[in-house]
Amino acid sequence: MTSLADSPFLRAARGEEPSHTPVWFMRQAGRSLPEYLAVREGVGMLESCMDPDLVVEITLQPVRRYGVDAAIFFSDIVLPLKAVGVDLDIKPGVGPVVASPVRTLADVEAIPDLTPEHVPFITEAVRSLVGELGATPLIGFAGAPFTVASYLVEGGPSKEHARTKAMMFGAPDVWDALMRKIAGISAAYLAVQVEAGASAVQLFDSWAGALTPADYEAHVMPHSARVLAAAGELGVPRIHFGVGTANLLTLMGEAGADVVGVDWRTPLDKAIPLVGDRAVQGNLDPTLVFAPTDVMTARAAEVIEAGRAARGHIFNLGHGVIPSTDPDQLKRLTEFVQSYPR
Ligand code: CP3
Repeated sequence: MTSLADSPFLRAARGEEPSHTPVWFMRQAGRSLPEYLAVREGVGMLESCMDPDLVVEITLQPVRRYGVDAAIFFSDIVLPLKAVGVDLDIKPGVGPVVASPVRTLADVEAIPDLTPEHVPFITEAVRSLVGELGATPLIGFAGAPFTVASYLVEGGPSKEHARTKAMMFGAPDVWDALMRKIAGISAAYLAVQVEAGASAVQLFDSWAGALTPADYEAHVMPHSARVLAAAGELGVPRIHFGVGTANLLTLMGEAGADVVGVDWRTPLDKAIPLVGDRAVQGNLDPTLVFAPTDVMTARAAEVIEAGRAARGHIFNLGHGVIPSTDPDQLKRLTEFVQSYPR
């Protein structure tokens, strides 16, 4: 039995040779699993995130079913905002909805900083999970400042992020204060998870692909860099992921990542030279899980082969598991990746 420190996931994240290519799936816990739907019956999303027993159970479900090489903590990127008192909800089929969107400096200043006392249920859930998981690493996570800002400023999910970017372009003082506020909250939220035993962290900047490289570098990257630097101080590997980031991969690595998450639109052989001496994570198109098994595994093999050129490779989908995914197909994919010759 390999130890936690020598687990394939942590070895690959550190750029060391793992015994097999490690695999886990973004959004592996959730609506694609009947056992998830069963325990969530009648329990709201945020309510379930604040119940340590449910968090432990939901986090473990995909580990039991698939035998993936890492667990990701069951929570949401807006949970820390809820914990400090921001009036928001996660609406089924919609996503996070904020009652009073943030528009002014006073709105920003009204958001408290996060302390461990705001999230005792997170500490409790992580501690129990780490005990249950043994040699399987637990990935903690937080939302990056830009992606979280988009929910706060727009008041809900957005395609264009127009109000958010209008603040970035037109009200630099409000923008800077907001990004600093969220960076502090995300860094504190990651610290709580790592101090309770999480082995790695992932910073989700899902919507960063809405930015040009110049705007990302000037207005967003310094704030994400502060979150990643704080996580680095805690001594755990840091994964940095966004969607539609072909033009940003170099900067996202330089922001302070050990592993750059690549979405499915950018072939790994194009991505790897852009991230420098770092590991990569990704990036099978999540819809390939709906293809015949031999088509899916042939494409997975291409991803693994391309990953050999990187300093390290953690196999994943190029974005989250689609809710209508067949769990048996993800199980086959997991087994295929883990048994693929190194
Ligand atoms: O398994 C895991 O990956 C861990 C759990 C997890 C959730 N949200 C649970 C969740 C993680 C890592 C997240 C991160 C998250 N949340 C991101 C970044 C990742 C990404 O997908 O790019 C973002 C942008 C959010 C915000 C958010 N929360 C969205 C867009 C949605 C989906 C809305 C919908 O229902 O289609 C949510 C809700 C959410 N977060 C669900 C889950 C399981 C569904 C809620 C439910 O079951 O009712």
